[in-house]
Amino acid sequence: MTIISQELQQTIEAMAVRGKGILAADESSKTIAKRFADIGVDSTETSRCNYRSLLLSTPHLGDFISGVILFEETLGQHSSVDHMPIPQLAASQNIVPGIKVDKGLTELANCLGEQVTQGLDGLRERLVDYKKLGARFAKWRNVYHISSRTPSRRAIDINAEMLARYAALCQEQGIVPIVEPEVLINGTHSIEQCAEATEAAIQALFHALYRHGVVLEQVILKPNMVVPGNESGAVVTPEQVAEQTLRVLRRTVPAAVPMIAFLSGGLSPSDSDAYLNAMNQQNAPWLLSYSYGRALQQEALHVWAGKEGNWKAAQETLHHRARLTGLAQKGEYRADME
Ligand code: 13P
Repeated sequence: MTIISQELQQTIEAMAVRGKGILAADESSKTIAKRFADIGVDSTETSRCNYRSLLLSTPHLGDFISGVILFEETLGQHSSVDHMPIPQLAASQNIVPGIKVDKGLTELANCLGEQVTQGLDGLRERLVDYKKLGARFAKWRNVYHISSRTPSRRAIDINAEMLARYAALCQEQGIVPIVEPEVLINGTHSIEQCAEATEAAIQALFHALYRHGVVLEQVILKPNMVVPGNESGAVVTPEQVAEQTLRVLRRTVPAAVPMIAFLSGGLSPSDSDAYLNAMNQQNAPWLLSYSYGRALQQEALHVWAGKEGNWKAAQETLHHRARLTGLAQKGEYRADME
């Protein structure tokens, strides 16, 4: 008999809300440095804190964002606006604070170009500390590369096993796990190849979650949308993406899972929203939502450009994009709203 934890259930109910989704603001120090370099901003502890304070103090952000994923450094920072701890600033907007807990990627030995995610050692103890700082959910990301020989069975199985171990540890500590098996968009592959790889990765993941006793009602799946490679030259419609993505999900994800929150994975903000919207025109047993990083942030990041005077305009830009994405989650988005 599965025991349903009240604590986990309350977190799920606060996050799986119609018209709202998750803001992924958990870029590692290396990734945020790349994003800042694009706009000519130095990545320092202060500039990172300032930018993330801008995001989370956006007026009424909580109307469209139910959870935010933070990087470890941010979880312990104080907002540059009013010195409130960042997790508390999120909570004051009715946004559940969460934390990326994996330690990034490393090459899988004897596998050409494939990667495995690190971070299980000491995770139980880290989760205890993160919870004290206010984190109520966590994220762990795996990646899968599509080529003529990958993803390999070995990469799929080892990554699934580690993701399931992470998820079990999170639930043990009263933290909702987001499980993110990301099939990367990079490459010349077709939409069908993406469908095949995504199906294999998610199928192995749910087998592993079952083996590790993870309570499916209290997990959030964060998959990629099924799309052709970004160097394939293929053009697809939102309806094709919705059809291919939903077919894979119906084959692999039990209806017990409450929420599927897609990553944007390098898709433009308007494509991400159009694709999500098309999926929400159909019936599905799960809430089909979002956990976007770039698609929610990139327009606001460019408007901000590191300048104090652009703060308000950047917040308005973020609010606008979050509103459109919230509408896409309800199947009410239209391209002419852009
Ligand atoms: P993107 O939406 O930019 O892919 O980021 C989501 C994320 O959290 C990747 O781990």
